[in-house]
Amino acid sequence: MTILVTGATGTVGRHIVDQLVNKGEQVRAVSRNPENANLPKGVEVVAGDLMSPETLMPAFQGVTALYLITSSDQAEATLETNPQVADLAEKAGVQKVSLLTVYGDGPVEQAIKNSRLEWTFVQPVGFMANAIDDWQESIREAGVVRKLGGEKRGAVIHEADIAAVFVETLLENGHHGNFYTLTGPEALSTIEQVEMISKAIGKEIKFEELSEEEARNDWRKLGHKEESIDFMVQMSKNPPEIGYTVLPTVEEVIGRPAKTFAEWVSEHKSYFM
Ligand SMILES: NC(=O)c1ccc[n+]([C@@H]2O[C@H](COP(=O)([O-])OP(=O)(O)OC[C@H]3O[C@@H](n4cnc5c(N)ncnc54)[C@H](OP(=O)(O)O)[C@@H]3O)[C@@H](O)[C@H]2O)c1
Repeated sequence: MTILVTGATGTVGRHIVDQLVNKGEQVRAVSRNPENANLPKGVEVVAGDLMSPETLMPAFQGVTALYLITSSDQAEATLETNPQVADLAEKAGVQKVSLLTVYGDGPVEQAIKNSRLEWTFVQPVGFMANAIDDWQESIREAGVVRKLGGEKRGAVIHEADIAAVFVETLLENGHHGNFYTLTGPEALSTIEQVEMISKAIGKEIKFEELSEEEARNDWRKLGHKEESIDFMVQMSKNPPEIGYTVLPTVEEVIGRPAKTFAEWVSEHKSYFM
């Protein structure tokens, strides 16, 4: 049986691929740039673009289970083409789909529920790895993290735990029709996370609270649209309860506790040094 991994070159997808390969599974990975995918030996890498679902048809051949991401890396919005992706997967004979859902209930979730596919929806909260994307540069260059809403907490999750839940749902039975919201084991503020990184690398890191206007300007400089900026301001000032409420789901699904931020930092501290 072949398992197809979309988003295979992404933060979660790479962990899924590694974990499946370690279990001896046959893995096919989709990428828009297969030549740069840099995935483990034995993984079949094929070209495909979720924005053009028909390009995925060759990738679906002989596949039993599919890990499907729902958004592109350019936008927070769910890909409008995803319902077609699900339809083509079913037509190609795929039996099972595990979906990384962001909003929980949109056109792709409906299309999958209306199909004959076995499905599991998995909704992780913020990834621990966001610390690299968001803070690596300023920590390395200036020993500082600047952010709006530094005291707000998030139950951030280790990407390897998200992947482990996906691997379980892709390989084992008993998950059909389940919706898993995944969190880490504790709710930490940005200030607390920065303190933990600082302790691990043995270097002082200052935290500076940004005003809303400063945060908006920074996001504008990064090229974000006003609509996305409004959303990010809202998330920073008033994060939704789902983002900071610790849930036992990871342990319930994979049988071991979710990894802590301290563990994540000890594995990734070189990124900040
Ligand atoms: N970061 C968070 O806190 C957070 C929280 C909840 C949910 N999420 C969601 O989780 C999902 C996975 O995130 P991630 O961090 O693992 O991914 P990522 O590191 O952002 O990488 C994006 C992945 O998506 C693939 N991709 C993007 N657009 C594509 C397209 N049009 N066709 C085919 N592949 C496409 C890329 O593949 P190629 O470049 O190789 O084609 C890459 O593998 C994302 O949808 C994200 O929105 C993130």
